[in-house]
Amino acid sequence: MDNKGIGIFDSGLGGLTVAKEIMEMLPDEQIFYLGDTARMPYGSKTKETIIKFSKENTAFLLKKNVKMIVVACNTASALALKELKNEFEIDIIGVIEAGARAAVEATVNRRIGVIGTRATIASGAYVDAIKKYDSRAKVFTSAAPLLVPLVEEGWLSNKETESILRHYLAGFGPKKIDTLVLGCTHYPLLKPLIKKIMPKVTVIDSAREIARTVRAMLEARDMTAKKGAGRKSEFFVTDTPAQFNKVGRFFLKKFMVEAKKVRL
Ligand code: DGL
Repeated sequence: MDNKGIGIFDSGLGGLTVAKEIMEMLPDEQIFYLGDTARMPYGSKTKETIIKFSKENTAFLLKKNVKMIVVACNTASALALKELKNEFEIDIIGVIEAGARAAVEATVNRRIGVIGTRATIASGAYVDAIKKYDSRAKVFTSAAPLLVPLVEEGWLSNKETESILRHYLAGFGPKKIDTLVLGCTHYPLLKPLIKKIMPKVTVIDSAREIARTVRAMLEARDMTAKKGAGRKSEFFVTDTPAQFNKVGRFFLKKFMVEAKKVRL
């Protein structure tokens, strides 16, 4: 048993999809969430910058005395996970592996699509991770940079969002994918629209997959928190807490708690 909290960071609010899944699956765990809203988006930044920001986020969460760190941001997981693991002693897990493994388990025809930010797609991290689990899988990718701002604005079912999504997903039809990985924190909120556009495709939500991985890891090491510990989770942002307090509930629903602004 280990009653220390779980640290989660993202470039902004999207990682709340991961926080919510973990809070739902592991209700006794205390979460410390950091959204680096002052410096988001990460998806259009260079590897060097993403590594620097990710190290600073990790250092902040370590001050909360957490037992593990979850890199909820797909972009940071794709570009900085290795460097974080090299630098810090604590267990650090990213979202790419869990999503890749789930996609390989789900696909029947071994044709998998991935959407993500420009940086995530350019890194090739999902292709590498999927091929690690199945070297014969065919992976097709599409960068979808306009989706993050749409979700941040809460445009989850507008016709404009649907038409942009149709544009990004159009290339997957001829490739005959049967599985699509949502390789970005924000995209799980677009799942209903994606299902409408691609009803026959299995959609892999990496937020849910990472929550399963966290649970399995804590259970295997006997590190889960005491039942009914009831400690309050805390949320931090590096800028615009008002925006968190407005949009955060789309992501967190019943787990919504107001965020505090911090300096890293
Ligand atoms: N959190 C990022 C991701 O999952 C999306 C937002 C950003 O570009 O910073 O890739």
